[in-house]
Amino acid sequence: MCGIIGAVAQRNIVNILLEGLRLLEYRGYDSAGLAVINHNNNLQYLRKVGKVNTLVEAVKQYSLSGETGIAHTRWATHGNPTESNAHPHISNNIIIVHNGIIENYQLLRDILRQRGYSFLSETDTEVIAHLIHWEQCQKNNLLTQVIQRVIPQLHGTYSIVIMDNLNPSRLVAARSGSPLIIGRGEEANFFASDQRALLPVTRRFIFLEEGDIAEITNKTICIWNNIGKIVERAEIVYQIKTDMKDIDKSPYCHYMQKEIYEQPLAIKNTIEKHLCSGLITMAELGPDIDILLRQVQHVQIIACGTSYHSAMVSRYWLEALAKLPCDIEIASEFRYRKSIVRSGSLLITLSQSGETADTLAALRLTKNMGYLGSLTICNVACSTLVRESDFVLITNAGTEISVASTKSFTTQLTLLLMFVIYIARIRGINKLSEKQIVHALQKLPSCIEQILLLDQAIKHLAEVFINKEHALFLGRGTLYPIAMEGALKLKEISYIHAEAYAAGELKHGPLALINPGMPVIVIVSNNELLDKLKSNIEEVRTRGGQLYIFAEKNITFTKSKEMKVIFLPNIEPLLAPIYYAVPMQMLAYHIALIKGTDVDQPRNLAKSVTV
Ligand code: AGP
Repeated sequence: MCGIIGAVAQRNIVNILLEGLRLLEYRGYDSAGLAVINHNNNLQYLRKVGKVNTLVEAVKQYSLSGETGIAHTRWATHGNPTESNAHPHISNNIIIVHNGIIENYQLLRDILRQRGYSFLSETDTEVIAHLIHWEQCQKNNLLTQVIQRVIPQLHGTYSIVIMDNLNPSRLVAARSGSPLIIGRGEEANFFASDQRALLPVTRRFIFLEEGDIAEITNKTICIWNNIGKIVERAEIVYQIKTDMKDIDKSPYCHYMQKEIYEQPLAIKNTIEKHLCSGLITMAELGPDIDILLRQVQHVQIIACGTSYHSAMVSRYWLEALAKLPCDIEIASEFRYRKSIVRSGSLLITLSQSGETADTLAALRLTKNMGYLGSLTICNVACSTLVRESDFVLITNAGTEISVASTKSFTTQLTLLLMFVIYIARIRGINKLSEKQIVHALQKLPSCIEQILLLDQAIKHLAEVFINKEHALFLGRGTLYPIAMEGALKLKEISYIHAEAYAAGELKHGPLALINPGMPVIVIVSNNELLDKLKSNIEEVRTRGGQLYIFAEKNITFTKSKEMKVIFLPNIEPLLAPIYYAVPMQMLAYHIALIKGTDVDQPRNLAKSVTV
């Protein structure tokens, strides 16, 4: 989603802003812009539709330079992706960039029109710029005080960075519901919506809290909390392994491809971090976690998108292995529902980014509802979800840049399975042999390496999809969520309409879709549902559907010309959902390549869904 970077220095900061925008590109955007002020109070700004590169070229052409500046990548919410809707937005001397949504912008727009302001864009952001200017004209005190008067008038979520052409040696920012950080540099300070944007210039970060207002000059940083009191916020010196090497995708063609291939190592890291003397450890959760886990009688999991598919799989595991009833829900539904908390319920949120607005809102909503506590399983250690949860497990996937989640999903599943086995042990459920499962888990990375060797076969299969407009994915049990994940990956990056069904549901409706030529992708594992799934395959075959089956090599099928089987090495059934996610990702990737779509930044989508 939208990305922000701002800088105040004694040197020209244009390249810092542009490099920052490049590093934010992975979040997804449709236009970009930048504004700078130089020592002579000369304001220059440019906005462009499309890629950051287009903006970079324009900046070169007009030789922009300045010591204070703000820049933005915009993911359209209010108003189409056009140059006039791109940020920064300007009201006289006030220049701003904004992430988030101002829900009462129409009302404010009407009020501001009556006050004589005219609007050059359709955005909610321009409203904020005019409002700041108006308040400044009413009482020309410090910009931070002006912002303190503006904030109560804004309903919604935002992070904003403001530059004042009348006082260009400082930037002011405010945060509510959308992440914003300060980067401390040498004779320079910065704002950004994501620390990645600042990695080339600093490793020292201050994470603003809800309701904070901050002001930076090239030497000073000052923060006020939500009641206007000056506060100190902890400075974190980032020892990120997440380094510039994560940003380099060579020798791969796309981040998604790189991240698919990183899965064996990422899963290995996740497993090793949670093992001690051959048994699973959850030491990361603190010394008292066992006491809490013994009290758990129910688990409520909340997530969105791919993370929700992890929740679906983990419900099977929690109920079967730990004998714990579990409910799962999409965060955007949960947060608007009057839900009832079951007694002894543990809340789990799942998220790659830790910034997903709906998941975060759901967590905040549950704070005083009576849950035993909140646990988040997340891939970004410094995210808001991590900071606001009682307990945290970090997946060791490394930075995931491609919009389509891959390694964050398989590491999330791996960690969830380990957590379920740990909780089963704590609850005294001895039916499963932890050592055997750990042994199988340790072999999982090499099993996934075997799947990666099937790249050419999957690529070949992908060619069939060049002219397809629809696809159906089928699975049963823990592989039903993987069928859903396969369908999500395919629509997300190839734009082919794809649906997933639990195969037992076929005859309740979707069988009507089957005609000669309809591609049906079936995930088949060697488990207790195998015979039932084979019957479903027959239902499709007799109606002429084109079957593409992913199955382990010890499974036999009646051969037919409508059926193509990709055989995979055998896998322990418990681990099958993690394992089968990988060929689904590879299939979607190769189909997207053939279709020529923007694999890493698919249209209309964003990596962090912060609105
Ligand atoms: C996955 O490929 C998608 N990009 C998307 O569904 C994603 O999983 C979802 O937006 C949730 O994100 P999170 O895991 O960062 O919370």
